[in-house]
Amino acid sequence: MNKLRATIGFSMAGFLLIAVTVAVSTKAVGEALDGAALVKERCTQCHDLMRVERRAGQDRAWWERTVERMEGKRTGLLNDAERNAVLDHLADM
Ligand code: HEC
Repeated sequence: MNKLRATIGFSMAGFLLIAVTVAVSTKAVGEALDGAALVKERCTQCHDLMRVERRAGQDRAWWERTVERMEGKRTGLLNDAERNAVLDHLADM
């Protein structure tokens, strides 16, 4: 019985280790997000891309204010990593 418990315990630990590894590698992939693709996907839900591209050349501070305003219109529009990738792209358009 104790041996069975130990086996189950080790399997659980192994499973947790795999789960954590998968979570960490998914996050690493998330850091290489494509800002342009994200803008195309998330910023065209209410208006077209023209509205965004018309403002090309604005600095990052302007985009931070604007994206914050857009997030106010739709909660959960971007997570932190996505917001960063989007801002990098917008400030560099
Ligand atoms: C929930 C709907 C919605 C989403 C999603 C959305 N927008 Fe908007 N956006 C609006 C509305 C409504 C306006 C016009 C009113 C305003 O400017 O607040 C607007 C206006 C704008 C403008 C014009 C502002 C100006 O002063 O010229 C820009 C630029 C813009 N959005 C960029 C974005 C970007 C970038 C994203 C993605 C991160 C985005 N929007 C996502 C609704 C949205």
